[in-house]
Amino acid sequence: MISTQSFKRPHSLLQLPKMLSVRRKVQDWLRSEVVDDAPTDERLFPDLKPPIETKGLILWLTGLSGSGKTTIALGVERELKERSCPVELLDGDLVRTNLSKGLGFSREDRETNIRRLGFVANLLSRNSVVAIVAAISPYQAARDEVRNTSKNFIEVFINAPLEVCEDRDVKGLYAMARDGEIKAFTGIDDPYEEPSNPDIVCYTEDESIEESIAKVVAYLEKLEYIPAKPHIKYSI
Ligand code: ADX
Repeated sequence: MISTQSFKRPHSLLQLPKMLSVRRKVQDWLRSEVVDDAPTDERLFPDLKPPIETKGLILWLTGLSGSGKTTIALGVERELKERSCPVELLDGDLVRTNLSKGLGFSREDRETNIRRLGFVANLLSRNSVVAIVAAISPYQAARDEVRNTSKNFIEVFINAPLEVCEDRDVKGLYAMARDGEIKAFTGIDDPYEEPSNPDIVCYTEDESIEESIAKVVAYLEKLEYIPAKPHIKYSI
């Protein structure tokens, strides 16, 4: 055991050699016990690999109101953050309170909304961000327009039958649309064009939320858009 006494200022020069020798011993001990044998990151976390670079992409979730777009988008966003991927979520309801404030639900306004979402998502994705869009985006042509102007565009159809969405009626809007209090409501008196060739389909009537999220994440992993989730084994 080395006492802290050893490091005190020497009272006379005669003590100096002894003190230097103690100091050398401490340094040797530190080097052998702590520095050389210190566990490296690799030894502590054998499965931890540096993250592969995320490819920017647009993950476009389309579907009826109440189909589960926002819930799935939030789940995918959480999964990507756990992988340290840069990610942004553009949610229809939220975007309509700022970027698309003032737009209504006519065909023209919905197309403008989709173009704006596509424009911002494009800016993000070309800077390596995973841009998740969750919007009804009811028109195939408008979605295709975004696809054709983007590098990596993945269309996810959040597929739930109208009856199921209406039954859920999370925001009470279907009831209002049926009563005529809201006009041109998607699925009631306004069209929804199902994707003709979606990259992924989530059947939210039959799948659990976690299954749908896992399906989307597995697809992104398989195509190497995102890295696999790190499994950290602690071996201290
Ligand atoms: S989109 O058609 O332009 O893509 P968006 O996803 O931005 O629609 O907004 C849809 C949300 O607006 C719905 O989830 C709902 O809360 C609200 N909403 C209000 N009026 C309507 C309407 N007439 N049709 C659809 N959604 C509406």
